[in-house]
Amino acid sequence: MSIRLGGIIFGLAIAGILVLWSLVPGVKNYAFGPPAEVQPATVFYEHGEGPEGGYAFDGPLGRWDYAQLQRGYQVYKEVCSACHSLKFVSFRNLAQLGYTEAEVDAEAASWTVPGIDPQTGETTTRPGEPTDHFPSPYPNAIAAAAANNNAIPPDLSLITKARHGGARYVYSILTGYGEPDPALAKKVGFETPTGLYFNKHFPNVNIAMPPPLVLDGQVSYADGTKATIPQMATDVSAFLTWTAEPSLVARRQTGWFVIGFLLFATALAFLSYKQIWAGMKPKKK
Ligand code: HEC
Repeated sequence: MSIRLGGIIFGLAIAGILVLWSLVPGVKNYAFGPPAEVQPATVFYEHGEGPEGGYAFDGPLGRWDYAQLQRGYQVYKEVCSACHSLKFVSFRNLAQLGYTEAEVDAEAASWTVPGIDPQTGETTTRPGEPTDHFPSPYPNAIAAAAANNNAIPPDLSLITKARHGGARYVYSILTGYGEPDPALAKKVGFETPTGLYFNKHFPNVNIAMPPPLVLDGQVSYADGTKATIPQMATDVSAFLTWTAEPSLVARRQTGWFVIGFLLFATALAFLSYKQIWAGMKPKKK
């Protein structure tokens, strides 16, 4: 047998073993299935669909609703920022939501950020400037955990990218609080430990975040929109979609432009093909 043939057979054998090996976990799962014990979370968990009517930015022709993003920013500022940071966003980014330069300056100054005393070099606080990022409500992770029953409130800058379902997931968490069906809870031996809160849209159904939106009118919107709980949840989840991907709408618009350009280029190519071959007649038989 030639060396070359031997090499090919050897390679095929290795590839075959790798293919079989890659099937092992699947075969195992098929044979033994998932564990059968009932997880209370799977009994009570309900998938959240997001706000009725969806979002303005949905779909290929979606746009930002700037009034909504400004309302969402207000909800973040007045409610969520007590526990959650937004460390990848700086105040000057707010200009993209339609705030004027003066308004951005005023917004920045309304936040307190960590600073350094220029005389002594000691750490102090100072009013924010447009180039500062949103400050963290806690000095460090230990303080954050200690204040929240050992659960650290995650930074919200990218949360709509980090969770399956994005804005709809955030909306669902904010509107998913309540009580489990008591009879069913008894049957499966489910309880919510002290310090946690039942939330049917949180995968583990007990969440360490106390319900943040509890009252209609918890914030007062400058544009007169009624601040119901679903409204606030929709607005803040839209705002967090913008923080995670400010270029979402621009990206889609670029997509349309590219498609248009490709169609144009195709038409051009077709016409030049016609032009080039125009003089050629098919051969007569
Ligand atoms: C009192 C503090 C507090 C406030 C106020 C608060 N949160 Fe939270 N949040 C938490 C904690 C603690 C967690 C971690 C929960 C856990 O892991 O069980 C959390 C988790 C989350 C999560 C992630 C859930 C996940 O899948 O891991 C989201 C999203 C969230 N909060 C959004 C918000 C929004 C939006 C607001 C404002 C409307 C808000 N939170 C207000 C404390 C807070």
